[in-house]
This record gives sequence, structure tokens and C-alpha cells, in this order.
Amino acid sequence: MVEGQKYDIYSQDFRKRTHEIFARMRQEDPIIKQPGLDGVTPIWFVSSYQAVEQMLLDDKTFVRDPALAFDAEQLAKWWGEPSPATSLVDNHMLNKDGVDHRRLRTLVSKAFTPRVIQELRPRIQQIADELVDRVDGAGQMELVAEYAFPLPITVIGELIGIPSRDRDDFRIWSDAFVRPAISPEEQQASLAKLGEFAAYIRNLVAAKRRDPGDELLSALIHVEEAGDRLNESELFSMLALLIVAGHETTVSLIGSATLTLLQHPDLMQELRTHPDRMAGALEELLRYDTPVERALNRFVAADTMLEGAAMKRGDLVIAILGSANRDEAKFTDAARLLPERKPNPHMAFGKGAHYCLGAPLARLEGEIALNTMLRRLPKLELAVPVESLAYRDVPLFRSLVSLPVRWS
Ligand code: HEM
Repeated sequence: MVEGQKYDIYSQDFRKRTHEIFARMRQEDPIIKQPGLDGVTPIWFVSSYQAVEQMLLDDKTFVRDPALAFDAEQLAKWWGEPSPATSLVDNHMLNKDGVDHRRLRTLVSKAFTPRVIQELRPRIQQIADELVDRVDGAGQMELVAEYAFPLPITVIGELIGIPSRDRDDFRIWSDAFVRPAISPEEQQASLAKLGEFAAYIRNLVAAKRRDPGDELLSALIHVEEAGDRLNESELFSMLALLIVAGHETTVSLIGSATLTLLQHPDLMQELRTHPDRMAGALEELLRYDTPVERALNRFVAADTMLEGAAMKRGDLVIAILGSANRDEAKFTDAARLLPERKPNPHMAFGKGAHYCLGAPLARLEGEIALNTMLRRLPKLELAVPVESLAYRDVPLFRSLVSLPVRWS
């Protein structure tokens, strides 16, 4: 653990004791300033439900765009000149605030309403069944690679209009998008990957311009061509965000939720015989092992107090959603998995202005993925000791590297 870090919240050891460490943080230091992943930069970590909620709702004070928290000189010192590749994929709604954010979100929000998303149900079901068809005779699979990843990437790919042959590359590019790059070598490698991602998107857009379809991408190109509403970097960044946010998160959900079910065999059996209960249980699975463990960092735009902590303009703040969702002050028996919990005001999809745009899609995919797995794979069980499971070292997510399972 790095000097000055009271809480180890980055290592594999932390991943094995996550909820124990978060419980201690909520108890002793619900808001604490300690060095981040680089061991140097001080960051406020917020772990109680009330403070996380208050912070995410106050999107004028806690902003995503550093330009709202620093003057030009500080900005230049901290960030220097952004690389062309980064600017092409970074100019998206999750990095914006206020009217800029609303403008970008409004352009795609119609494609993600619960009603529109429900129309995808038959196709998502078909994709889930096809994935199980490929493995059911084998009696075993590595669930992350063979089910949790291909399902959401296929769904978001078809929705946007991406040729299916390219989808495996997204795992590599997407990792560069979400994994913090600290050392100069890591930064260089990450930039190279982002450059490839941007080049891919450029070709994709060019191809769709020549041969438009009825998918989201063609609609967005049309908006860009219409002039002042979406420029090239906004279009590229929107696609990058939808591709990354549209699958990474759901891969984590399907992996973690499956593991939780394997550890709760009675619930697994109940859901197998009552698939109609899955939608409710999924909310509790999202709360219990929250896939996006930490919201993206915010900058403090003006000096403020958050539950007694004096924060200064320019400070960095991270809301720990995975801890807030286990807060005893908000949820009775927070450490227990109670599938019928009502109400269940978890913040697995965030809160406030940046509340997950894809929540209806994520819920539908999660429900179908888990129900199909339970219906088609009897006596499902873990194929390795639970202690051998590892989590990806990406702080944002709680995401299993692999999950070998078998059935009979
Ligand atoms: C289980 C799956 C998912 C989880 C747990 C999840 C979680 C989240 C969270 C916590 C945020 C807010 C981040 C913050 O405030 O820092 C967010 C934002 C977002 N999510 Fe999701 N997400 C999931 C699936 C999806 C899917 C399938 C899409 C597909 C389009 C999507 C698109 C987005 C977008 C575009 C934003 C940014 C919204 C904005 O800035 O206004 N997400 N998501």
C-alpha cells in the first residue's frame, strides 16, 4: 500500500475484502482525503450513501469538466496539450456539465427510453440463446469470455450499427479507455490504443456515410451533417462512449451477478422456477455487488462543505457507489442479499444529471442473460475454487477477470 493511503482500495487484496474495507471507511472516515492510484494526487473519497447522493445531485459544485474548476494557467500546467486521439474520443456527455451535457444527452436519449429498449427483447433473447447453443454440449464455459462479454457487445454493436467481425477489438480499445495510465510507458501505450480506436471510428463513420442504414450511427451522422448540433469530435466521442459504457458495465454485472447467485443456491433455484422474479432480484444484485464501483471523478468548482469536509476549488472527489449501496444507514441488513427488498433506492446507475442513459438496456440485458443461463444450464456451479477468482485491476469497475462454470 502506498504511504499516506489509510485505506488500500486498489490491490487484489482489497478486491477480496472490498465490503469489509468499505464498511470501515463508512464507519470511521465516510469522507477522507488520501492519495489516489498514482500514490501522489490527493483525492477525496466519499463512501456514505448520504454524502454520495448529495454530491452527485449537486452537479454545479461537483463537475466533470476541469475547465470549470481551474483557470487557464492551471489547466495548461496539469493537462498540457491534449493529444489528437484523446480529443477525438473524450468530447462526450459524461465529460460535460450543464447545457453542454444536456445538449449531447438529448441527441441520443430517444434511442434509450424504456419503451424503445423493450422492442429489443426478442433479439436480445435470441443472442443469449445462440451463445448458450455454442456451449451447452460442452458442459462448461468461461462465462466472462463466452457469455458476459459477447452478449452486451453484440447488442450495443447492432444498436449502433457496427459490423460484428470488429467487436473483439473493442475489448482492447475499451480497456485503454477505462484503465488509468500512470507511468509514461502506460500513457504511451494507452494513447496508441486510443489512436487505433479513433481511427476505427473514423473509418466506420466514413463507411456509414457512403452506405447509410437505419441504426443509431446513421441517425447521428445525419445530425452532424445537419450542421451546428454535433461536430466531428462530438460524434466520434459519442460513439466511443456508447461502445464502452454500453458493454463494459454490463459484462461486470453479468459476471458478478452470476457469482452471487452461485453463492446463494436457494435464490438461484427460486429464480429458475420463477423467472418473473428476476427483474426485482436484479435490482438487489446491482446493489449488493455494484458493477460500476466508483463514479468518475468530479472536480470541485467552488469551495464547499460536504458533510463537514472543507473542499477547495480544484479538489478531486470520487463517489464510491459500491459502498453507498451497502450503507446500513440507508439499507436495513445492507450486507444481506434480499431479492424482495422494497424500496431499493440503490445508486448502481449513478444519480442526478449523469444518471445512466443505458439503465433500461442494462436491466433488460441483465434479466435476459441471467434467466436464459438458469433455464438452459441445469445444476450450474463454479468450476474453480472461489478464492482463485481475480478482479480486473480497473478501479472504476468491480469486474471478474474470468468465471469458469460447469453444469450437467
Ligand atoms: C449494468 C450496466 C450498467 C451500469 C451499472 C451503468 C452505470 C452507470 C453509472 C454509474 C453512470 C454514471 C457515472 C458517473 O456519474 O460518473 C453511467 C452513465 C452512463 N451510462 Fe451506464 N451503466 C450500465 C450500462 C449502460 C449501457 C448498456 C449503456 C448504453 C448505452 C450505458 C450508457 C451510459 C451513458 C451514455 C452514461 C453517461 C450519461 C451522462 O453523462 O449523462 N450504460 N452508467
